[in-house]
Amino acid sequence: MDFWFTRNGIDLMLRKPKVGDAEEILTFAKALFNSTDQVLTTSEEFTVTPEQEKQWIEDSLQNPDKLILVITNEEEIVGLLDFAPKTKRKNAHTGEFGVSVRYDFQGMGIGSMLIESLLKWAKANRHIEKVFLNVMATNLRAIELYKKLGFQEEGRHIRAIKQLNGDYVDLIQMYILTAPAADKI
Ligand SMILES: CC(C)(COP(=O)(O)OP(=O)(O)OC[C@H]1O[C@@H](n2cnc3c(N)ncnc32)[C@H](O)[C@@H]1OP(=O)(O)O)[C@@H](O)C(=O)NCCC(=O)NCCS
Repeated sequence: MDFWFTRNGIDLMLRKPKVGDAEEILTFAKALFNSTDQVLTTSEEFTVTPEQEKQWIEDSLQNPDKLILVITNEEEIVGLLDFAPKTKRKNAHTGEFGVSVRYDFQGMGIGSMLIESLLKWAKANRHIEKVFLNVMATNLRAIELYKKLGFQEEGRHIRAIKQLNGDYVDLIQMYILTAPAADKI
């Protein structure tokens, strides 16, 4: 599914990760956690080892209802999307994703491309009927992006986040239906 494209004169590639990308994904994640307080994990809490990251990639590649997508620039990962379905028979038709783009590559359409690719994949998937995400109410840019791509707010987890400075933030859950239920098994 490798797909080349250019943004702002920069060559980028959208693809699934390889197990060999584990270290590069860790580097990407650490840089992300250091660059924003709009994600749940703090950089000190991020203790994933390369071996664990490899297993995470392998597990996703082997499960047809999971998806990881990366966007690379000259072998460096600059965007990442991770989708996983819920794990019980009664909720496995739904799944949550997270998306992030390296600070210096934001605003180029990389986040949009990752989410559009996820939605295309979900529509073709035989099980996934609902895709959702949780976003901090302060993350206006991300909320705008999700709305632009058709996501709607379905509820709020009140004061679900307490920022390190003590500020409380609501988490907004947003969703999109990826197929009429009757079309899926
Ligand atoms: C949120 C995030 C994934 C968006 O990725 P991105 O590649 O920068 O987004 P895109 O360039 O595809 O889309 C930008 C869209 O966001 C919105 N946007 C961009 N810049 C904006 C700004 N300054 N103010 C408000 N909205 C803005 C617009 O809707 C824009 O759409 P447009 O291209 O039609 O104008 C990225 O900013 C990011 O990784 N942030 C840090 C981690 C994070 O917050 N992840 C989401 C957690 S839920």
